[in-house]
Amino acid sequence: SSIYRSGVYGHRPVVPTSPDALADAARRRMSRTAWSYVAGGAGAQRTVEANREAFGRYRIVPRQMVDVGQRSLTTTLLGRELPAPVLFGPVGALELAVQHQRGRGGRGAAPRNAEPALARAARDLGLPVVISSQASTPMEDTAATLGDSPRWFQLYWSSDDALVESFVTRAEASGCEAIVVTLDTHVLGWRTMDLDLGYLPFARAEGIAQYLSDPAFQKLVEERVRAATPPGTTSARPTIAAVRSLLSMAAHHPGPTLRNLTQPYARAAVETFLDVFSRSTLTWADLAWLRERTTLPVLVKGIQHPDDARAALDHGADGIIVSNHGGRQVDNAVASLDTLGPVVDAVRAHSGADPAGPPVPVLFDSGIRTGADVFTALALGADAVLLGRPWVYGLALAGADGVRAVTEHVLAELDLTMALAGVAETGQIGRHNLAG
Ligand code: FNR
Repeated sequence: SSIYRSGVYGHRPVVPTSPDALADAARRRMSRTAWSYVAGGAGAQRTVEANREAFGRYRIVPRQMVDVGQRSLTTTLLGRELPAPVLFGPVGALELAVQHQRGRGGRGAAPRNAEPALARAARDLGLPVVISSQASTPMEDTAATLGDSPRWFQLYWSSDDALVESFVTRAEASGCEAIVVTLDTHVLGWRTMDLDLGYLPFARAEGIAQYLSDPAFQKLVEERVRAATPPGTTSARPTIAAVRSLLSMAAHHPGPTLRNLTQPYARAAVETFLDVFSRSTLTWADLAWLRERTTLPVLVKGIQHPDDARAALDHGADGIIVSNHGGRQVDNAVASLDTLGPVVDAVRAHSGADPAGPPVPVLFDSGIRTGADVFTALALGADAVLLGRPWVYGLALAGADGVRAVTEHVLAELDLTMALAGVAETGQIGRHNLAG
């Protein structure tokens, strides 16, 4: 209601409330490379479109004369009470959104301020951040900014066991309350917009801070450099910080980075990253290995089929994230929202077999732009949702204030939608609120 009240006094919101206007403003602010990376999807962008189009096929049915004077968005997730069923989804190479802006010669704000801004906004709102494996800032720094505010860690399962273990150990030490393993990106999708610009931000400085700051990764880089150095040669080995600053220099110079990386250590760092980023040989049986290495709940992200949800639970997963990575991986893939109901049914039937066990959360993302979208996902059975591109647009437009504003708009619309659908608490939203 405070958003409406400031409207009464003629104050405009920090960022547009309409999702299309928000995206449009962000597109105008960001460089072409940054926009392509953030907004772009796989191939012909069909799944990016399908994710949005799907929301139009589920309709909310308003109900009248229900006492909704006292409403609450609070939710309990993995034993923690949250102010709303909303998380900040993992977004890698985030720095790109704030550094590559138009009219700033490709350079904008000071380096590495994207995650600090996200963390400040998340802390103000009390909503969890899912820290990306590809973050632009080491997780320890983000954790420090977050203070007591909740955080999870998103893992890309490296081909190097020691690196996986190191990431998990760091996540635990950084106060992360869950590990989210992203399953749908063991190879990178066919990202046409990035490919056409010759720019794959994933492997650039913006996206490998988590790796450069990791002792297991540093060891791999040093081994590679040693192997490439002829015996008897003594060369001063630069610190990882020096490699990092070199990479980030290269990243902010126009033109592709890798080509310009003649410095052997920096080149070795990028090559090592490309080698160990992921593992395409994983099968469900491998989940047990990870399950044994942490006491934290493990959620799997990228589930689109009820059989995969069942298999994940059979192999020790503690939660499911229904997602198609925002249409960035498989073009022509089914809209994520259309897979939500069947996955929810499978998970509920599966946990019905063990009623004494903890409830298995099903989270959802891919295509959420508004509070009404959140309502629809909750109505189809999601326990919470992850926001992706919208808060990145807010970040690009107005830093921490923009992230906060975008999220507040979503929460405000969710609250009003609940009021007008005759629901006082998020836990009461269900399929009965949808037509058909
Ligand atoms: C992502 N996503 C993502 N997911 C993940 O598990 N690790 C990551 O590092 C990233 N990085 C990333 C970067 C950018 C720029 C985007 C847009 C997305 C996927 C993200 O967590 C989420 O699944 C999608 O963003 C959801 O789709 P929408 O709602 O953004 O369309």
